Amino acid sequence: MADALKIGIAGLGTVGASLAKILVERRDMLQTTCGRPIEIAAVTARSKGRDRGVDLSAAEWFDDPVALAREAKIDVFVELMGGAGDPAHAAVKAALSRGVHVVTANKALLAAHGVELAGIAEKHGSLLNYEAAVAGGIPVIKALRESLTGNTISRVYGIMNGTCNYILTKMEKEGLSFEACLKEAQRLGYAEADPAFDIEGNDTAHKLSILTTLAFGTRISADDIYLEGITNISIDDIRAAADLGYRIKLLGVAQKTDTGVEQRVHPTMVPLDSVIAQVDGVTNAVAIESDILGELLMVGPGAGGNATASAVLGDIADIAKSRPGAQTVPALGRPAAALAPYKRAQIRKHHGGYFIRLSVEDRTGVFASIARHMAENGISLESIVQRAQATAESTDPKTIILVTHATMEDSVRKAVASIKSDGYLVGEPQVIRIERPKTA
Ligand SMILES: NC(=O)c1ccc[n+]([C@@H]2O[C@H](COP(=O)([O-])OP(=O)(O)OC[C@H]3O[C@@H](n4cnc5c(N)ncnc54)[C@H](OP(=O)(O)O)[C@@H]3O)[C@@H](O)[C@H]2O)c1
Repeated sequence: MADALKIGIAGLGTVGASLAKILVERRDMLQTTCGRPIEIAAVTARSKGRDRGVDLSAAEWFDDPVALAREAKIDVFVELMGGAGDPAHAAVKAALSRGVHVVTANKALLAAHGVELAGIAEKHGSLLNYEAAVAGGIPVIKALRESLTGNTISRVYGIMNGTCNYILTKMEKEGLSFEACLKEAQRLGYAEADPAFDIEGNDTAHKLSILTTLAFGTRISADDIYLEGITNISIDDIRAAADLGYRIKLLGVAQKTDTGVEQRVHPTMVPLDSVIAQVDGVTNAVAIESDILGELLMVGPGAGGNATASAVLGDIADIAKSRPGAQTVPALGRPAAALAPYKRAQIRKHHGGYFIRLSVEDRTGVFASIARHMAENGISLESIVQRAQATAESTDPKTIILVTHATMEDSVRKAVASIKSDGYLVGEPQVIRIERPKTA
């Protein structure tokens, strides 16, 4: 039997405590499958006295995560504290720099410093594994980094934020407002007290930036992502989408185009009969389209202590099973120095279908004027629907919903601007991009 793999865990919260429990409870099973025991040799958290639901008295306690990373007698440093800055950043750097492998679930850290950390890992022959950082328990990092080697990837997209998917699902199923569903998500612990990071799309953007790098070999560029959150989605949009055969999801999409790589996070219409439209509640899904394999769709738990710990454990087990001195997998799929600069494709050049919902005054000629502006901008319509038919005497606003065939975003923006300047719109127009799975 080989020597035990000694790990140090920094962070004993939701994920760290779940991981520690699994490691203790499944020690024998892990020893058999990994060929050696996995031992928790050192731990740190903010509060030493807090009960973690597992006996960690045999592990050396450190007050400072950076000291643990620098000094503890460990083979693997497991970073489960979170945050892009210190101590997570300094501790991970310290571990990698002395040849200690690192496993982390920290998407914020990778989005901000992934290329730097990958470079340090390469220099010192250490591994940097981060399966849990994107879509929790779904093994999407391994799929992109290892399983799809040799494929040329054209698009990666997915539902990567359980809070947003829970809210959108609940709005549709129960006909409730965004605000009511957000409150319920907070009550159930699916949304933070300050939910902005999730509902504005930033969390999805962090994850997407990592997938973009793995898919397209470009440097991580988390600040260069087109971002729209879900706060603007109304129950009217959700109902109109359903009537027209679509469902609204917050998607992160990375796609190669002729002008660069699109990275965008926004509410998206997906066809009702697509598999991704069926992904409800806090569940996540990631689709990868590539030339050799075709379309791969993975669905599973995107968060939670156990689901996330499962992915962390998989990364630790990979290290336990690896042979000393064996060639290591580059953290970002290729050597950090071989990553290409990220070239952003302009969102105005995005080509796709659009859902446009307009609230208009009940005047003659409005319908014809809208159709004319669409035609003038070369936009062909898949459908145009007028709702809430007013009576002859009524001047209540009417709703007009347009679904376009694939067209350039610039044309849609110009057409909508012309419609606005005609002066018959009531309120702001709603424009939502449509995303179609390759096979739909
Ligand atoms: N929770 C999920 O479902 C999930 C899913 C995917 C990825 N992740 C990622 O996993 C990581 C951990 O998330 P979590 O939900 O487990 O967070 P959490 O419950 O807030 O736990 C954070 C842990 O880190 C410790 N900690 C924080 N700052 C520290 C410091 N300066 N020094 C020492 N210890 C410190 C805390 O100590 P105390 O306990 O003493 O306060 C706590 O044990 C994050 O990167 C997160 O993005 C989480």
